Amino acid sequence: MGRVQVRQMMRTPAIHALLIQLAAFVLVLLLAVGLRTFAGTDLNILSAALVHGAAAALISYWRRLAAWWFPIQFIFPVALLTVHALRLPSWLFLAAFLALTCLYWTTFRTQVPFFPSGPATWHAVAGLLPEKEGVRVVDVGSGLGGLILHLARLRPEGEFSGIEVAPLPWLISALRARLAGSRGRFIRGDYDRLAFAGFDVVFAYLSPAAMPALWAKARAEMRPGTLLLSHEFPIPGVEPSLIIPGAAGRPSLFGWHM
Ligand SMILES: C[S@@+](CC[C@H](N)C(=O)[O-])C[C@H]1O[C@@H](n2cnc3c(N)ncnc32)[C@H](O)[C@@H]1O
Repeated sequence: MGRVQVRQMMRTPAIHALLIQLAAFVLVLLLAVGLRTFAGTDLNILSAALVHGAAAALISYWRRLAAWWFPIQFIFPVALLTVHALRLPSWLFLAAFLALTCLYWTTFRTQVPFFPSGPATWHAVAGLLPEKEGVRVVDVGSGLGGLILHLARLRPEGEFSGIEVAPLPWLISALRARLAGSRGRFIRGDYDRLAFAGFDVVFAYLSPAAMPALWAKARAEMRPGTLLLSHEFPIPGVEPSLIIPGAAGRPSLFGWHM
């Protein structure tokens, strides 16, 4: 990993939040040592956790993290103490860590967590596909593969693929395609390395943080007349060519004709 990548990673909010927790821990340690040395008293563990949480929340405010980090930063040390008190077997933590890593993989970097879209979105996307024979569609960040499997069923003459960076969702989507005998194809990887030029429709369900870079890539690579779709998240400052409102308060589907 190069120096620029390390610097970029340090700027991601999750790494920033972790570094703040470490800084708050050092402050509490200094406070505990100071109290013992100069006042002869010990800071009990619950008070230490509360001071730690408060310090982490304040530093997060000072460092301008998004507001929803403040309660997380405050609760984290107390939650750690509580879980520690449950005396759960250590293998459980390793198992939970491995399962969450395989599910979320590089969410701390991409800022795109896993959450699936549903049939209402798949139907809306199906209604927007061009009629042309052999239409080529990709879901960037394809999760469990629901959209691609649905479209491949509806349009057997088309080419439908998904690309997914996290191993567990990718594995599940690939197994689902194989078990269903689907022509949908799933690649494990980062969509940043996939050329968008070969697709008629690029679908994304990502996060607000990912939209500016997705737009830059789509503008640079997608052919004129093709369609970029985003479920829930608009592209800041770019007027969509179409909006399909979600039913019953569900998120909208946005589209941009290139
Ligand atoms: C909100 S989920 C959407 C899943 C799927 N598209 C759907 O509609 O059900 C976003 C997915 O994108 C994946 N993802 C995020 N960044 C990615 C990247 N750079 N390359 C490939 N997949 C990515 C995440 O791992 C996650 O599974």
